[in-house]
Amino acid sequence: MAKERTQVGIIGAGPAGLMLSHLLARVGIDSVVLERRSREYVEKRVRAGVLEQGTVNLMRETGVGARMDREGLVHRGIALRFEGGDHRIDFEDLTGGSTITVYGQQEVVKDLIAARLAAGQRLHFEIEDVSAHDVSSSAPKLRYTLGDESVELECDFIAGCDGFHGVSRDAIPADHLTRYEREYPFGWVGILASVAPSAEELIYSSHDRGFALLSMRSPTLTRLYVQCDRSDTIDDWPDARIWEELHLRLATDEGFELKEGPIVEKTIAWMHSVVTEPMQHGRLFLAGDAAHIVPATGAKGLNLAVHVVRVLSAALDLWYRSGSPAALAAYSETCLRRVWRAQHFSYWMTTMLHRFPTDDAFQRKLQLAQLRWVSSSRDAAASLAENYVGIVRV
Ligand code: APR
Ligand code: PHB
Repeated sequence: MAKERTQVGIIGAGPAGLMLSHLLARVGIDSVVLERRSREYVEKRVRAGVLEQGTVNLMRETGVGARMDREGLVHRGIALRFEGGDHRIDFEDLTGGSTITVYGQQEVVKDLIAARLAAGQRLHFEIEDVSAHDVSSSAPKLRYTLGDESVELECDFIAGCDGFHGVSRDAIPADHLTRYEREYPFGWVGILASVAPSAEELIYSSHDRGFALLSMRSPTLTRLYVQCDRSDTIDDWPDARIWEELHLRLATDEGFELKEGPIVEKTIAWMHSVVTEPMQHGRLFLAGDAAHIVPATGAKGLNLAVHVVRVLSAALDLWYRSGSPAALAAYSETCLRRVWRAQHFSYWMTTMLHRFPTDDAFQRKLQLAQLRWVSSSRDAAASLAENYVGIVRV
């Protein structure tokens, strides 16, 4: 078995693992990233696409923001659409200047992979058998096969950035972990359509038939979502049905016109929340979807992953520079405060905007009362805006 060494062994080349390796390299910490899928696969995987102000700033400050600055779409607000009309939440005004940037997650992934490879990062794709060992000791290890060779990678620390279906969580004894979760009784059918977006900003629509969202990726690519039942499969949603529901749920009294175009991608995703506590065991640190999943309504998933790897890289930096374990010891607690804030915001947006199968007419009246308040009270709108663009203190 070939023996190799690094300071931080990272499982997973999603936004969490890639951003972590990038931040670590900037403070002189060596890492190896091991990814199960091919480079092509991770670069094409369509996910969400809203970057908080803090994520944008971090990309820029660390030298991976050039294409985002050229191609990303800066949005200064969103619309809440209900009762046939739009109610704009003006982020810039309500937050003292913060905005969001629409830039696909896979574009962030592409930019990070290019930067890491250009910097000579050991970043291995199609590694299908990673396992973590001795995570409670001071010499944790990753074992895997690279080409025809079995490798043992000795690490100071391991970062489990391998998403919801990864293996790193399993390296922690089950009786040390508590899992909190919530399944929502619905999902989203999502499409990418080759057509100019029908609006300049995102539209979150709460309709008696269910939720719909108009988003975008570029001036020629529209991203649309429509709420579906938990029991649906993608076969229940032929293109014509998707467009029909989108037209109905996005209709306004003023005659909003939804432009249709060829569907180039179609997916179905479930809304659920998961938090695993603590996010650390011995020298194994969990980050991103490996530890926390949020429903997509608040657009928090990618941004939360970026937040926690930022905390982790700073804590590791402190440890290597001064030998102080204080920030590493506080990692889980520090991150979980933000994780739960993001969970609450995502839950709040989700319940405010979707139709639950158990909802009665009374519940719908409550939802509409809430939506009217959020869009007419400056304080209520400001709390949505503050959370959406990325809360500073939690
Ligand atoms: N070995 C190596 N890599 C693995 C393994 C494994 N056993 N299991 C999973 N992976 C890889 C996946 O293929 C994926 O590329 O880990 C990566 C995890 O990436 P993401 O799922 O994108 O998760 P994360 O980096 O935490 O980013 C969170 O992704 O799901 C979205 O909405 C979520 O935006 C959020 C973001
Ligand atoms: C997206 O563009 O994919 C998107 C935007 C906002 C969300 C979720 C997804 O809340």
